[in-house]
Amino acid sequence: MFLGIDVGTSAVKALLIDENSATRAEADIPLSLSSPKPFWSEQNPTDWWDATLRAIDALHAQNPAAIAATRAIGLSGQMHGATLLGDDDKPLRPAILWNDGRAMRECAELDAALPDLGMRAGVATMPGMTAPKLIWLRKHEPELFAKIKTILLPKDYIRLHLSGDKATEMSDAAGTLWLDEESRSWNADAIAACGLDMAQLPKLVEGSDPTGILRPELAERWGMGSTVVIAGGGGDAATGGIGVGAVRHGDGFISLGTSSQIFVASDKYRPKPEELLHSFTHAVPEHWFQMAVLLNGASCLQWAAGLLGETDIGALLSRVEAQHKAPSNVLFLPYLNGERTPHNNPYARGVFFGLGSDTGRETMVQAVLEGVAFALSDAQSRLHAAGTHCDLPGVIGGGARSRYWIQLISDIMGTPLARYEGAAKGPAFGAARLGRLALTNEAVEDVCQKPAIEEVIEPDQARHASYAPRFAKFQRIYAALSDEFTPD
Ligand code: XUL
Repeated sequence: MFLGIDVGTSAVKALLIDENSATRAEADIPLSLSSPKPFWSEQNPTDWWDATLRAIDALHAQNPAAIAATRAIGLSGQMHGATLLGDDDKPLRPAILWNDGRAMRECAELDAALPDLGMRAGVATMPGMTAPKLIWLRKHEPELFAKIKTILLPKDYIRLHLSGDKATEMSDAAGTLWLDEESRSWNADAIAACGLDMAQLPKLVEGSDPTGILRPELAERWGMGSTVVIAGGGGDAATGGIGVGAVRHGDGFISLGTSSQIFVASDKYRPKPEELLHSFTHAVPEHWFQMAVLLNGASCLQWAAGLLGETDIGALLSRVEAQHKAPSNVLFLPYLNGERTPHNNPYARGVFFGLGSDTGRETMVQAVLEGVAFALSDAQSRLHAAGTHCDLPGVIGGGARSRYWIQLISDIMGTPLARYEGAAKGPAFGAARLGRLALTNEAVEDVCQKPAIEEVIEPDQARHASYAPRFAKFQRIYAALSDEFTPD
């Protein structure tokens, strides 16, 4: 048995798979997010650990024999979160997350100090990355900054609890701006530019390498043996890729979760910071990927449903689909949490355009679904500009449950999309596979198989054409408003 743990933003997910990759137990423990000031986004690391314990306890309650047979654990997590520990290895403050926008000014300072940073770090300097947050802390919370002994990423804080090891791996280190992506090693210049010392960063391994052994008291709690291996694991983008077998050059997927990504695996390091793409080290050796990151996704649908008092999202989508005759005459900019690709604008916010006194809730929700699809289309054009194409992306994440939405995305993007058989394989599944690789040393291609495709959804060319002028208008509305989002 192999256990995957994904420290997400909205939940910690634990998933136990057997040697045939069949799921034997599964649990989700919800997490909440705090935004003490505009553009801030924080979570308490201790909440991640409490939720992880509860998730594995739940697996133990569901299937004690299977959990006891766990031989390896893989970790996955939301990327970029600055998790700051003091001398006692306790968090000094809430972690500053991937969708936090406070450090925009500090990005400019880092760029001025290190003009070639984007080419080495694989991504433009954006406030969601870890490094500018540390410059912000040095400026705004200097006493706390002076106390930082160790900086970890969210899933690596869980590792510290599980095994006592301070380690990270390439695919999550990739999102700090402190990694030299090509040589897969820490970049001393970038670390020094933030007033930090290499000793404050954890040991660096590959995602499929072991980093330690589960603590005896935890092994005992879940009835496990004394040699349960903990694998390096990966950032959630990379573990999502491992989960759907996106490892060979050109393999890719679209993730439609709290955030969304278009991910394409790559045989070498191909930096394109000017396109606002993320060119990062993958969670297995000698592999990289390119990714467009959108800070919004299925979360927009959840937001709209919540606001409209709709508790059954499936029923809501059926009503929207039934009245969908043509592109909505309402446009929605889905930037509820700002945007990275293609705007690098943490201050961007959502906009409904074209509301009338006759606008009903179904029309507004249709506009929300279309807005996310337009944003994906916008991001895809940056990948195409970089010369990157993906062979038949599959769709994963919460949004993948709706066939109607996937068809709409395919129509708007003009791209065939795959629906996978069974439950969408997410990052926790990829993490469990990395646990297996760390234990067994099998070939990456043997373990990272692609899920069976249930259906290929082809774009409807007539609908694609009818959406083209709406997409152009969507882009013009953002362009017209982009300067207006800046805080006063
Ligand atoms: C990737 C990113 C998000 C978070 C969300 O760069 O910021 O995907 O990892 O979990």
